[in-house]
Amino acid sequence: MEQLRIQHDTAGVDWKTVADTLRDVRMGYYAPDKHNRAFDNSYAVIFVFDGAVMVGFGRILSDGEYQSAIYDVAVNPDYQGRGIGKMIVCELMNTTPGCNFILYSSPGKECFYEKLGFRKMKTGMAAYLSSETMQKKGFT
Ligand SMILES: CC(C)(COP(=O)(O)OP(=O)(O)OC[C@H]1O[C@@H](n2cnc3c(N)ncnc32)[C@H](O)[C@@H]1OP(=O)(O)O)[C@@H](O)C(=O)NCCC(=O)NCCS
Repeated sequence: MEQLRIQHDTAGVDWKTVADTLRDVRMGYYAPDKHNRAFDNSYAVIFVFDGAVMVGFGRILSDGEYQSAIYDVAVNPDYQGRGIGKMIVCELMNTTPGCNFILYSSPGKECFYEKLGFRKMKTGMAAYLSSETMQKKGFT
C-alpha cells in the first residue's frame, strides 16, 4: 500500500467506483450520477486513495453550527481493518467541530461506531422510502 492520499472534494472522482463499492459492501447504491449529486450537495466529503485506487469515502450533511449527519462511509473490502474507516469518520467529524453527530449504522457495524464514541439512540426514528425493505434488513 502506497502512502494514502486524502481528498476533501469531488474533483475527478469516478462515481461508478463509488456505486460499485457501496454495492460490494452491501450498502444502498444508486446510478453513479445520483451519487455525484449527493456528494456535491453534501457539507463535506472525503475520499481516500491508494495511488489511483479509491479505497474509501464518506460524506457529511450539516448546518455547520450544531447538527451533522454522517452518510455513505465505506471502505473497499480489500482495505478494511487498516484504520481507514476510523480515519474517514474522524476527518468528517473534524469538518464540523461543535456539532452533534448522528448516523445509522449498517446492522452488525455498531461496534465500529461505538469505538468512535457513538451511542445508540433511544428515540431515533426514520421514514424510509422502502420501509418494508429497511425493516427486513434490520434497520427498524
Ligand atoms: C465499517 C467500516 C467502514 C469500517 O472500516 P475499516 O477501515 O474496516 O475499520 P478500521 O480499520 O478503521 O477500524 C477501526 C476500529 O473499529 C473496529 N472495527 C471495524 N469494523 C468493526 C466491526 N464490524 N465490528 C466491530 N469493530 C469493528 C476495528 O477493530 C478498529 O478497532 P481498534 O481502533 O480498536 O483497532 C468498513 O468495514 C466498511 O466499509 N464496511 C462495510 C460498509 C459499512 O458497513 N459501512 C458503515 C455503514 S454505516
